[in-house]
Amino acid sequence: MCGIVGYVGERQACPVIIKGLHRLEYRGYDSAGVAVMHPGGGMDVFKCKGKVSDLEHFLEGKDSAGTIGIGHTRWATHGVPNDANAHPHLSRSGKLALIHNGIIENFRVLRDALRTHGFTFRSSTDSEVLVNLIEYVRESEKCSLEEAVRVALKQVVGAYAIAVIEEGNTSRIIAARKSSPMAIGLGDGEYFLSSDAASIIDYTQDFVYLNDEELAVIEKGKPLHIMNLDGKDTPVSIQKLNLSISQLEKGGFDHFMLKEIHEQPETLEDCIRGRVIPETLEIVLSGVIENKEKFLAARRIIFVACGTSWHAALIGEHLIENMCRIPVEVEYASEFRYRNPVIFPDDIVIAVSQSGETADTLAAVELARKAGAFVYGICNVVGSSIARSTDSGTYIHVGPEIGVASTKAFTGQVTVMTMLALLVGRLRGTVEEGYYHRVAQALLELPATMREALKTADQVAALAKTFTYAHNFIYLGRGYNYPTALEGALKLKEISYIHAEGLPAAEMKHGSIALIDAEMPTVAIATLDRTYEKTLSNIEEIKSRGGKIIAVVSKGDDLVRHCADYCIEVPSTVECLMPLVSIVPLQLLAYYIATYKGRNVDQPRNLAKSVTVE
Ligand code: M6R
Repeated sequence: MCGIVGYVGERQACPVIIKGLHRLEYRGYDSAGVAVMHPGGGMDVFKCKGKVSDLEHFLEGKDSAGTIGIGHTRWATHGVPNDANAHPHLSRSGKLALIHNGIIENFRVLRDALRTHGFTFRSSTDSEVLVNLIEYVRESEKCSLEEAVRVALKQVVGAYAIAVIEEGNTSRIIAARKSSPMAIGLGDGEYFLSSDAASIIDYTQDFVYLNDEELAVIEKGKPLHIMNLDGKDTPVSIQKLNLSISQLEKGGFDHFMLKEIHEQPETLEDCIRGRVIPETLEIVLSGVIENKEKFLAARRIIFVACGTSWHAALIGEHLIENMCRIPVEVEYASEFRYRNPVIFPDDIVIAVSQSGETADTLAAVELARKAGAFVYGICNVVGSSIARSTDSGTYIHVGPEIGVASTKAFTGQVTVMTMLALLVGRLRGTVEEGYYHRVAQALLELPATMREALKTADQVAALAKTFTYAHNFIYLGRGYNYPTALEGALKLKEISYIHAEGLPAAEMKHGSIALIDAEMPTVAIATLDRTYEKTLSNIEEIKSRGGKIIAVVSKGDDLVRHCADYCIEVPSTVECLMPLVSIVPLQLLAYYIATYKGRNVDQPRNLAKSVTVE
């Protein structure tokens, strides 16, 4: 949460920072700001409530010239979104400017201590406390800025990615991180800084990713210098990021979310490429193959994840239990990390995270590693914190997901889990060969199947108009499609602000059926699978109580038409891949209802793409 960008070099810093901040808006968008150092060494801060475009208007006609600067787009944690709480924050003397992503948990203690030294605060943020702590150390110990930052950070409890500049120094930025991402882009005699390397891909493909508790001295024209918080130098490792700028643009669609829904055939093709061999149907996941012994000996698999990734993990539970006969538990990372869970050394913990930066999932990974479990990651963002802190893993390779509502990452995660379950099942001898071949073949056909599922778009768009009035929705599914129902409900909630509840279809009778009346639409996933007949009965029960039903059904199935008000036909595939197909109309339904209601689907209120705070 919160996006930070910095620049030092020969270019004008402000345009570079603003462009980067636009790309980082998925991380937070309630206020934005920039600090630039003018050529003579004087510093100015421009910041305001609102989006990066509001900051751009605010900057119009102002002198923001300078070749060094830092900028921030905020997702509020401490203090309401207003001008004063927007970053950058200045120190008491006005000589230091700081941007911060994360939470300083002991900020009250630090603030009270600083008050005894005469410091006062203009904002309610923890970040302003940090910049003043740095200034206090710098003044009292008469040390360099990097030393002051290092000493101050030793006193901080919490998470941070920070960048600091100092009035008068037109060539140097100090940056540091702990539990919040920070990438340094290397140019020709210039440096870029960002929470997400993708945001500055226009300028460089060479990046250094800071590790936890590392501090970087970034100085124009000088080699990058990285040290740990004990002041010991650490190696600088440069990595290439292969990404095209078109992946960061809307490509003719009105919103990133719509683009990302529609590109699922291609993203799944990328996810599967080289991993399901067409000629032999062999599955090649190097992370599993290199750790074959661990998967053969696994006593249990525990998934840890949040939100949409947690829904994907629920499908992973079905896949692995069915194909590998290994008991599986699916845990909310936020609960797991504080529950003192029982973890055995022969457990495998699988962390699922699109961003690879979710604070709770990262903490769950650390806990599992400490307990001696083998930790496997399923991430999208290459080089992300979770990807780097797991023992091994598989990237989903679906490209940058920019819409806050996760769509193509969900289908990528389930696809990787299917390949993993098939491969482990074959290694353990628990999956029947005929079944293995059917699923592997269906994986190869998945891009075409998804293309077919996307043909429902026009019908769903028309249907969405009818339901824009609704204040509540129920989503029902069973078996593999119960998590699909949860995910469909989450999509609707987060972008349309309509309350929605996902349930296993048969659970309705145990209470929630009391909600059914003509005003409560139900979306039921009733595709042809082993629970089809049962789901039909559940639909009948709703119908007979006056509820309106939108059913997602298998192509050519006429039976559900007799009881559902509307049927959306999706193509068939093997049962375990049906969630990938069934979720498509639910993603589209949420999207169209939200756009008809005039919501900002890519940046819904109160949310951020990457939840890097607890
Ligand atoms: O990056 P992650 O997959 O770890 O994020 C977890 C959740 O915050 C995320 O899936 C969230 O629920 C989605 N944006 C919802 O669409």
